[in-house]
Amino acid sequence: MHVPSSVVVRPARQVAGSVRLPGDKSISHRYAMLGAIAEGNSRLENYSTGADCATTLGCLRALGVAWQRVDDASNTIEIAGKGPALSEPAAPLDCGNSGSTMRMLSGIVAGQGFTSELFGDESLSRRPMARIMKPLSEMGAEIKATDGDRPPLRIRGGNLHAIDYRLPVASAQVKSCLLFAGLFAKGATCVDEPLRTRDHGEVALRAFGAQLGRHGNATQIIGGQKLHGIEARIPGDLSSAAFFFCAAALFPGSQLVIDTLLMNPTRARLLDVLIGLGVRISITQLDEQHGELVGTVRVEGQRLGHAEIAGADTAALIDEIPVLAAIAPCTEQGIRIRDAKELRVKESDRIRAIVMNLRSMGAEVEEHEDGLSIPGSQKLHGAEIDSLGDHRIAMAFSIAALRAEGETLIQGADAAVISFPSFFKTLDTLVQR
Ligand code: S3P
Repeated sequence: MHVPSSVVVRPARQVAGSVRLPGDKSISHRYAMLGAIAEGNSRLENYSTGADCATTLGCLRALGVAWQRVDDASNTIEIAGKGPALSEPAAPLDCGNSGSTMRMLSGIVAGQGFTSELFGDESLSRRPMARIMKPLSEMGAEIKATDGDRPPLRIRGGNLHAIDYRLPVASAQVKSCLLFAGLFAKGATCVDEPLRTRDHGEVALRAFGAQLGRHGNATQIIGGQKLHGIEARIPGDLSSAAFFFCAAALFPGSQLVIDTLLMNPTRARLLDVLIGLGVRISITQLDEQHGELVGTVRVEGQRLGHAEIAGADTAALIDEIPVLAAIAPCTEQGIRIRDAKELRVKESDRIRAIVMNLRSMGAEVEEHEDGLSIPGSQKLHGAEIDSLGDHRIAMAFSIAALRAEGETLIQGADAAVISFPSFFKTLDTLVQR
């Protein structure tokens, strides 16, 4: 779907309606990667429409995995599992803008008996990779980055052995990378995390037939296990839903319903924060699909109070912080966010991007090295927003723009294609002016 490079967002009166969203990005990446190294075929319905997940499929094709889109309306793909041994790629693997692709696929290519190169766009080339390089090297892979720990990466894989590893930074991408590498390693790999991060890697491995052990925050996988293909419908993306939940939260009396949405408790902390702010939320039709919780969420806008987000909450909410920060001036007492240093090494320095764009809209905001303090009861005015090429910044400020006085021009709006190409179209169906 084409998204123009700049989009004008006009203020809204109300948000109302009911939608169903494209499949979750985190789950789509993992299902595609595990489907590729499984025995037999996988059929994945409602695969993410985002460019990042297409990037993962592109890399898998370069590694000799056959897949096809079988139905565009339901975004269904079929992957012919190749089993654990992939083919040596003829050219470097293009990971585009996708940190998830580079970090998690590194775990799989580290287990292959050949050398792979992985590169990305300008933003990905600035992102730290030491977090996967160090443990994968300890497992026996040879990894070189071009500039310190920055991509491109050159990985000579094969002959991995298991390690016990405690993650220095809470990161689900790194946890999944190491569990995937653990499938190819001799012995039992154990990954311990300082805080519980999203567990889609573990849930997906079990869905594809692997057995995992768990003790506290540590997960164990024994190498050499065989995976088998699955048929699954991927639940709607909770991080995409976050934009519309926050839009509804901005307008007292608004009513929004999103069905077949991912409800995994390691991803749903935003709902707790919104409830704390005063939003009315109800969840019905709970169901479990391949170990992932799915449900229907109804959100009713109310007057918004205040929120303090720190520690484990910050880690659990990391992708939703841009939109929460963007609506913070419209709460009564504001929002304070701490322990969010990781935001500085996402697709952009998101703390900088939030500060710069909130100030353009006339809001007062205090920047901290690891977060933000945003006072409430502020008025926003229309402005020119710079997404810095970051999908979540483009979408977050399109939501803030609904409560601004005057029009807002989102520059770099096309970044939305990374996770949610139909974002602006869906927003238009929900907004009343
Ligand atoms: C993701 C984990 C998070 C998140 C990213 C997706 C995942 O990154 O920001 O958008 O699917 O595991 P980190 O693992 O770097 O925290």
